Amino acid sequence: MTFLRGERLAKSYIISRGWWQKEEIQAVHDVSLDLDLDIEAGKNVGLVGESGSGKSTLVRLLSRLERPSRGCLHYRGKEISTLPEKQLTSFRRQVQIIFQDAAASLNPRHPAEKILAEPLRNYFPAFSRKERRDKIDQVLQQVGLSPEDRKRYPHEFSGGQQRRLAIARAVIVNPFLVICDEATSGLDVSLQGQLLNLFLDLGEKFGVHYLLVSHDLPAVRYLCQRVVVMYAGRIVEDLPANRLDASLHPYTRALLKSEPRLEGSFSPQFLPGEPPDSSAYPAGCPFHPRCPERIEICAREQPFLKEISARHRAACHLAGKQ
Ligand SMILES: Nc1ncnc2c1ncn2[C@@H]1O[C@H](COP(=O)(O)OP(=O)(O)OP(=O)(O)O)[C@@H](O)[C@H]1O
Ligand SMILES: [Mg+2]
Repeated sequence: MTFLRGERLAKSYIISRGWWQKEEIQAVHDVSLDLDLDIEAGKNVGLVGESGSGKSTLVRLLSRLERPSRGCLHYRGKEISTLPEKQLTSFRRQVQIIFQDAAASLNPRHPAEKILAEPLRNYFPAFSRKERRDKIDQVLQQVGLSPEDRKRYPHEFSGGQQRRLAIARAVIVNPFLVICDEATSGLDVSLQGQLLNLFLDLGEKFGVHYLLVSHDLPAVRYLCQRVVVMYAGRIVEDLPANRLDASLHPYTRALLKSEPRLEGSFSPQFLPGEPPDSSAYPAGCPFHPRCPERIEICAREQPFLKEISARHRAACHLAGKQ
């Protein structure tokens, strides 16, 4: 059974511009996504796209931090998009999120042990004091901190250690899925590498799966078996990571061309132009004004996200036709 399934999810926000003017922002538009998270479909999924493409909004919908304006969310076959919070206990434990701003999500007045004890009290109320303590020590070690760090406060940790503490808080309740929204950005390259290896390690040891939201394609290739590409609030392509080089959407190909690589004399090429304003998408394919391969139909008709082959979907009029 699919672990998590979003069906035609949409989210809009009304924002005010000046005194009288209100504007509707379409942050996520008609997104259908199955997270099976098995070996075949890919245990770890990367979500990529330029700034403002709707990745964080989609993550908030998938984790039921926000309710969708339209569409449904199914958790292990059960529709949960409007369920009250008290019926979401299992879902809340199984789906954990780590945000970019890990430090800000850690209560500065609580030492590490209290930060880690809280989720245990919530989801494992039968644990004795000793069991909680042992589990905290164990998880601190697993994320590369030490039991002596128990008494330290968030500000006494370095940036990298704070992320580790946030990871510890997420994995301590044995989640099935950990969503990392830019959880490694803003760190230097070697720290990012260490955290990615930590993700892999925890994934293997505890069967944790990841939804990795990232601007960093190499990080996504390293950790994920499946890549979902968003543009202007929509999924434009969804394919196995090892088939990225055979991607069919010109936007995905543009992202790949802008990816820095170490080997050879490759120099990254950046896609000119800006993504459209989320309050005024162009008619037709939202990517067409920037698309080097556009044809006449692209300005008129919105392409559907269609199945190209097994585990490969793309929303482009040209996809599958070349
Ligand atoms: N709470 C909100 N209220 C109003 N507009 C919002 C809200 N959250 C997101 N948006 C808008 O929705 C669009 C998508 O934003 P979102 O944060 O999901 O993008 P993103 O892909 O995560 O970008 P980034 O890579 O910069 O994190 C943007 O235009 C953003 O300004
Ligand atoms: Mg974001």
